[in-house]
Amino acid sequence: MSIHPLPPPKQPTGVGRLPVARWFLFIGAVAGVAFAAGVVVTMAMIAHARSLGPRPEVAAQLDRLNVALIVLFGVLLACGAGLAFIVRYAVLKPVAQLSEQVRTVAAGDFDHRLGVDRPAELSELSSHVDSMRRRIVSAWREAADQAEELRRSNGELEQFAYVASHDLQEPLRKVASFTQMLEQRYGTQLDDRARQYIHYAVDGAKRMQLLINDLLDFSRVGRVSGERVPTDSGEALDRALDNLSAAIEDTGTTVTRDDLPVVTGNRLQLTQLFQNLVENAIKFRSESPPSVRVTAERKGDLWEFTCSDNGIGVEPKYADRIFLIFQRLHPRDVYPGTGIGLALCRKIVEYHGGQLWLDDTPAGQGATFRWTLPAAGDDT
Ligand SMILES: Nc1ncnc2c1ncn2[C@@H]1O[C@H](COP(=O)(O)OP(=O)(O)O)[C@@H](O)[C@H]1O
Ligand SMILES: [Mg+2]
Repeated sequence: MSIHPLPPPKQPTGVGRLPVARWFLFIGAVAGVAFAAGVVVTMAMIAHARSLGPRPEVAAQLDRLNVALIVLFGVLLACGAGLAFIVRYAVLKPVAQLSEQVRTVAAGDFDHRLGVDRPAELSELSSHVDSMRRRIVSAWREAADQAEELRRSNGELEQFAYVASHDLQEPLRKVASFTQMLEQRYGTQLDDRARQYIHYAVDGAKRMQLLINDLLDFSRVGRVSGERVPTDSGEALDRALDNLSAAIEDTGTTVTRDDLPVVTGNRLQLTQLFQNLVENAIKFRSESPPSVRVTAERKGDLWEFTCSDNGIGVEPKYADRIFLIFQRLHPRDVYPGTGIGLALCRKIVEYHGGQLWLDDTPAGQGATFRWTLPAAGDDT
């Protein structure tokens, strides 16, 4: 399993920086010195009292006091050593052991078992942490397996769409051209109904060609022509407008634009993106001649583009649906189309690492599409 490099551990601050062992050593040393000093001072006072020549019973008591002090000092010394031993072997060592195990897991060995046998509190804590590790790892593995399976089936689906649309082109071209030839050659010998049938057949074949070409474009994104280099988005728009020049002229469309930036992208796909958006703006126009405005604004490492029009607009409740493949909001005889355009646009933008969405626009004020693309290197 792959892991991301871990961030460096957070350094403790304030008095927390000192390890517990040092605190113990420091407090133990201060207590030891203070007690030893107390013993020495007391013994000096006893010696002084003895030098004053006390009564024999008092002198005997003073001697016993001396012995008691030495025994007490010895007992305390033994207790101190015992405590230091316990702290070292029952607390500090297991803590270090556990922290070493946790470090190993954090470094990427997620199968490394966590556990210390003593003391009881630490053993309980380590068993809880270990069961948390096991649960997270198993959930993660499951998610990783599912993601892998999804990637695989997605790849297969894309491959299928590509092969199907690619291989369907040729027989379809044959159907379309032979039905057209049939019409041209034998049109005069046929009655009106037969000519109408042929017309339907040609129309159906043409629509299917359009659909297949769009599907092919869609399945190509991310498979072929994937090179992403610094690309002038203004030039991509120019090419798109060039491809749409006939429609622009026929409908009297005006296109206004900012100075468009250089982005990291694929020339062909950016042209397709602009072409689909402007084509929609022209197709879904209102009564007045279409007016399209393209802008770009720098946002951190990205450029945020907009393409707005003065057309019929999209109801906000359909703002997500229109980006799904084959989803259209109008019957085909009112507005022709395949319903692939915006799905293709979204796929292109996401392939470039950006996002594409429809802005909230009040009814009757057209539609505004907004998307982000990565800025090209040092272009600011
Ligand atoms: N500029 C626009 N103004 C209004 N509606 C739009 C616009 N662009 C897209 N739409 C809506 O989104 C739907 C999907 O668009 P698209 O995927 O390009 O498919 P198509 O153009 O083939 O209908 C369109 O059918 C239309 O209803
Ligand atoms: Mg379209």
